[in-house]
Amino acid sequence: MRILLIGGGGREHALAWKLAQSPKVEKLYAAPGNPGIAQLKKCECININIDDLESVADYAEEKSIDLTVVGPEAPLVAGLADVFKRRGLPVFGPSKAAAQLEGSKAFSKELMAKYNIPTAFFKICEDIATAKAYVEEKGAPIVVKADGLAAGKGVVVAMTKEEALAAIDEMMADHKFGNAGARLVLEEYMEGEEASLLAFTDGKTVVPMIAAQDHKRVFDGDEGPNTGGMGTYAPAPVMTDILRLKATERILKPVVEAMAAEGMPYQGCLYAGLMIKGDSVKVVEFNCRFGDPETQVVLPLLDGDLADIMLACATGTLDKAEVGWYDKAAVCVVMASGGYPESYEKGKDIIGLEAAASDKNVVVFHAGTKYENDSIVTAGGRVLGVTAVDASIKAARDRAYNAVEKIKFDKAFCRKDIAWRALKR
Ligand code: AMP
Ligand code: GLY
Repeated sequence: MRILLIGGGGREHALAWKLAQSPKVEKLYAAPGNPGIAQLKKCECININIDDLESVADYAEEKSIDLTVVGPEAPLVAGLADVFKRRGLPVFGPSKAAAQLEGSKAFSKELMAKYNIPTAFFKICEDIATAKAYVEEKGAPIVVKADGLAAGKGVVVAMTKEEALAAIDEMMADHKFGNAGARLVLEEYMEGEEASLLAFTDGKTVVPMIAAQDHKRVFDGDEGPNTGGMGTYAPAPVMTDILRLKATERILKPVVEAMAAEGMPYQGCLYAGLMIKGDSVKVVEFNCRFGDPETQVVLPLLDGDLADIMLACATGTLDKAEVGWYDKAAVCVVMASGGYPESYEKGKDIIGLEAAASDKNVVVFHAGTKYENDSIVTAGGRVLGVTAVDASIKAARDRAYNAVEKIKFDKAFCRKDIAWRALKR
């Protein structure tokens, strides 16, 4: 099998790492990829313009690609899968219409309301006056969300009315997120513990993965501003077997059925961000792709051939695929550039990568790195995802931090408490 992988972050390194383990994969091209992917056997990074969807499909045809796997949401929301489908090229990832589940929070909330899928109460607001009147009526806490894609920054959990009103002004009057804030979703505040449950689907069959938990705040103790994710672990014990079954039957399967009923079948990875309280599980958000850094802990535990599974999703045969999970745990600690998620410097030499990876149960996924001459330097806010697998969360966490100790770059920092919720139990 020849694979084309779109993307170049930590998630894509984890995807490439697992795909390359398949004996059926003979070659994997990553566009643009990253130095971590470039070091993998069978993998090659290529430079094509991934915003030009037709030329990506041209490339896939030219190289006789059997399956194209799309990592990030932007090309999916732009319609990459539609172009591939029209040209008869197998692709893993939803169509533009189906990707609205992530691309428009108003779309996904309306779908959930129509099909009785558990989520927070909400109101979609098209103008400032309606939004502010709703805040006056409901009071705080309340959650203000920009409808469209805002690089993970378009959500304000307002603990006071003033914060909510200010967020409405920023999004609607000051256009902080451009067109993404032209419509807002105002939402009931949900208490509880969050978990990410991802699933493979071909549009009919739904196969849930093991649950993971992300750490979105930048500092220990879940303090400070939100980031893309500072670390993850799996399986997340908050998601008991019963809750996972409930989430599958009441959320994942109904959504996939709903999308098919609406004439926009959903195929690829469906990411459900869930809020768990007692035995209740509700949807916080959907994403139309793998999570980053959830993928870095979920895929090392996958007992199955990822290339086979993804091809089965793309060709409607997921019911025949074999998907199992190792009875182990994984922890990923993100090493970031000082200053992230605000401004930070790039181009710092990274040392100790080989020493860290000398442990057979550790993989260092590259998120924001690049080659400069012959050395690997920092090139992003989230630089590395140091991931370890072991028998328990505690052992995996110790192993991951042990590897982190061996890696150095100027102004590097990481959270020291990844997996604290699991260990507190
Ligand atoms: P989202 O981009 O929708 O996942 O929102 C980002 C983060 O905001 C989530 O991971 C939650 O921590 C928080 N959040 C979003 N919606 C709610 C809600 N209705 N209640 C409480 N927290 C929320
Ligand atoms: N880790 C959160 C996300 O991928 O959206």
